[in-house]
Amino acid sequence: MLDKTDEIEYFAMKEAVPSLPASWYYDPAQHERELKAIWSKSWNYVCRSDTLDERLAYKTITVGNQNVVVLRDREGALKAFYNTCRHRGSVLCTEKEGKLGSALLVCPYHQWSFAADDGRLVKVSSFEEPAGFDKADYGLFPVALVEWRGCVFINLDPTAEPDPDALFHRSSENLANFPMETMVVAHTWRAEVACNWKSFWENFNECLHCPSVHPELTELVPLYGRRIVNPKDLPDWVDHEGSEDPKYRGGLRDGGETWSHDGSAQGHVIKELTEDDLARGQTYATTYPSMFIGAYPDHARIVRLLPLGPEKMELQMEWLFPQETLDDPSYDIKNVVDFAIMVVEQDSKACEISQLGLHSAPFEGGVLMPEEYHVRDFHTWVKAELGK
Ligand code: FES
Ligand SMILES: [Fe+2]
Repeated sequence: MLDKTDEIEYFAMKEAVPSLPASWYYDPAQHERELKAIWSKSWNYVCRSDTLDERLAYKTITVGNQNVVVLRDREGALKAFYNTCRHRGSVLCTEKEGKLGSALLVCPYHQWSFAADDGRLVKVSSFEEPAGFDKADYGLFPVALVEWRGCVFINLDPTAEPDPDALFHRSSENLANFPMETMVVAHTWRAEVACNWKSFWENFNECLHCPSVHPELTELVPLYGRRIVNPKDLPDWVDHEGSEDPKYRGGLRDGGETWSHDGSAQGHVIKELTEDDLARGQTYATTYPSMFIGAYPDHARIVRLLPLGPEKMELQMEWLFPQETLDDPSYDIKNVVDFAIMVVEQDSKACEISQLGLHSAPFEGGVLMPEEYHVRDFHTWVKAELGK
């Protein structure tokens, strides 16, 4: 007999697929491999460019074990250098962010001075320059930088070609109507999570966990209550085609306007958005391994992750709003900020619990279920990067 599901196209997988080896989530040697093959070769998100608005303002970022300083030079251009002095290797900027006192990066150890504009060595502190020493040979090591719609990315790969259109692994096209360039960061939140960085992406890429981990979110996004992320994940979509029930069509619950505690956008739906943008409820753009953007009818949220070790990562969230929303004293950003923190803390706890179980001696690796096809795609990407 013909199985009906054979004819219907849907996204869920039909066959079980092995997950990654369990040791890849805690083995330091594997972590080193991933830092070299993935984190040192990808465009990693640093910050919004409006958070480096002043000339000579800087931020430092540590990608794996590589520390980089990103700054705005005297002309207003963004530059990035390894945060390492060419004399004997001291760190140059010791703070996470700040403003240079002059257009020079001065080493705190023996005061070598480098030009913020191009990293060239301007001055050494010795009484004379010795024979065989040429300042031109000791400029700061540059780091590739690209800006996409107000988001700053760096790449440690010296051969990386800055191509803003190739940054995202899952499309950024749906963000076209969000005024990303002009939205401003109104709140930043950071936390450490005791899990491998890949566990975060796996969790992000499936909703099999949603009903048990996110009771509030599944109420706001009823489709998630069915443990899926797209109406066409399961073959039963044909039975509900054209349904207005958000459980089947996706989007927010009836009356829900945005991702917030009470579902309200407080009268500040972003004016550039179309009916389709609003109907989606949430719009994602993903760039592995460091960042995704979640955009909602009244705000956008940028989530950045950085690996701190095989079993630890840093999570950062920034909330962006149109300036006019922030100018309205009656708009309470806590409604969206606290909601997202609650959801992310629920996910973080799930990832930490999962991390603890992975060490079990007889557990060599898990298996992916039909709804986890985005997890499979993420694993395919990880393996491809490691194999390059
Ligand atoms: S290490 Fe920087 S000046 Fe000596
Ligand atoms: Fe989740």
